Amino acid sequence: MKTQAKASAPAKVILLGEHFVVHGEPAIVLAIDRRARVTVNIRSDRKIFIKSEDIGISGFFMDDQFFPQRGGREAERKLEPIYSVAREILQKYRLKKGVNIEIKSSIPTAAGLGSSAAVSVASAAALCSLFGCDESKDYIFQIAFNAEKIIHGTPSGVDPAVSTYGGILWYRKSEPIRRLNIDVDLPLIIGNTGKERSTGKLVAKVNSLKERYPSIISKVISAGGEIIKRSMKALREGDLKTLGELMNINHELLSALQVSCEELESLVHAARNAGALGAKLTGAGGGGCMIALVSPEKTEDVALAIEKAGGEVFVTRKTDIGVTIEE
Ligand code: PMV
Repeated sequence: MKTQAKASAPAKVILLGEHFVVHGEPAIVLAIDRRARVTVNIRSDRKIFIKSEDIGISGFFMDDQFFPQRGGREAERKLEPIYSVAREILQKYRLKKGVNIEIKSSIPTAAGLGSSAAVSVASAAALCSLFGCDESKDYIFQIAFNAEKIIHGTPSGVDPAVSTYGGILWYRKSEPIRRLNIDVDLPLIIGNTGKERSTGKLVAKVNSLKERYPSIISKVISAGGEIIKRSMKALREGDLKTLGELMNINHELLSALQVSCEELESLVHAARNAGALGAKLTGAGGGGCMIALVSPEKTEDVALAIEKAGGEVFVTRKTDIGVTIEE
């Protein structure tokens, strides 16, 4: 058995379909070139020690109890999904071992870029490599999806899917994951409002709205699904103008679901006014990030406009590299 293993997994942006995807509609999502990296080591005791240097939290789990080292009880909430990944693998393979799990990530947290899923996916892969267990992507996806359920309650699974498989995916719950072979370059600018939010709370907010206004909200959600279906033609034809327009409609439907906020609106409108082909929030909303689709001659103008409106701009590219075992 190895004594150390390393793995990494990418962040994502949802091009179209967040929230609708939780209610059974499809989403189109792409992996981007920011990654979470996880190193795991065998310990001589049975403790599961987890440390995230970037967010300054650490502690260990022993018999399902948490003992914080840095970050107090908040650390437990954030580290629990990673613990659940480790526990699932140790239990399945009847391994009586302890491990150190060290996380280093360049993905902003709670921003809609799938940071928690990327960390769960990379942790699962590193642990499977360490213990010589099933390293198949399907198994890694399943473990990370189970961990997401601890954080978000009823996640669609889109985040761990794209982080595992990479590339551009068509994702719909209860359908096989489809990787799209689309050649078109998608020039996207990401703007971060810097406002942290909880995906679980926003998903619950939409659920509650749907319970109170079922006939209205189910129509908004199915209109969202139609946008995604229509966008496939635009993507295949490289018709970025139509894609941008569909992104704008997608954003307005998300506003109808009350998951936008003032900060996101201001970045989205700044991008559109500066000539973006389309702009929308990405991920759960309520803060976090927005994306703008831009033609090359407008890239600088749009990036500047987002910055002026208070956003932090990221330049990022799609990556085909999903989860990877590095050592
Ligand atoms: O904000 P993120 O990166 O956690 O993305 C959430 C996407 C949702 O559709 C809102 C939830 C889900 O599980 O699909």
